[in-house]
Amino acid sequence: MKVLLATRNDAKLTELRDIVSDLGVEVIGLDEVPEFPEAPETGATFAENSLAKARDACAATGMLAVADDSGLAVDALNGMPGVLSARWSGSSGDRREKDAKNLALVLDQMADVPEERRGAAFVCAAAAVHPDGREAVVTERWPGTLIRSPRGLNGFGYDPAFVPDGGSVTSAEMSSEEKNAVSHRARAFRALAPELRALLG
Ligand code: IMP
Repeated sequence: MKVLLATRNDAKLTELRDIVSDLGVEVIGLDEVPEFPEAPETGATFAENSLAKARDACAATGMLAVADDSGLAVDALNGMPGVLSARWSGSSGDRREKDAKNLALVLDQMADVPEERRGAAFVCAAAAVHPDGREAVVTERWPGTLIRSPRGLNGFGYDPAFVPDGGSVTSAEMSSEEKNAVSHRARAFRALAPELRALLG
């Protein structure tokens, strides 16, 4: 059976393929199905956004569809940028410019926050929607702290300021293999795998 992951990101496809390799399904991405209009992300939670994306993909293709939605939740900012992570500093510029501006803005907003209140977590929700109407959604966190000056060149987004709990390097100083083994997305895809197995049954 084929499962559609509602993404054009090859790294996400590889991650999900690895995690569900024992389920006997073929995971394909949006580049392999006819284009359909993708609704804007308007949900109040990562779970709502991931479900909306998976529902749209399922309705447009008739396939069992999986989608994820993720972002950074900063304790001292009451969980923001949250679902606004990708456009926290506005929506102008390409992805790299936005990432740099978003990171600079969060670090500026956190400038006066002392070490003991610099907790944050990357959060990821993953949803699966079956054409017969059954749905599953999970949300997982990767907790850590925000440092004051960015470090590291790997990853994207807020990675250069995020040090996962129990470590000393930022997620931008980890290799993609190291990050993918423990990240919020890996955790969410792993938590979704048994739900996916049930939907396939
Ligand atoms: P998306 O769900 O992949 O579209 O990510 C939404 C936004 O959350 C990104 O634009 C980043 O700002 C932030 N984000 C999500 N995951 C990560 C990550 O692993 N590292 C750094 N930033 C992330």
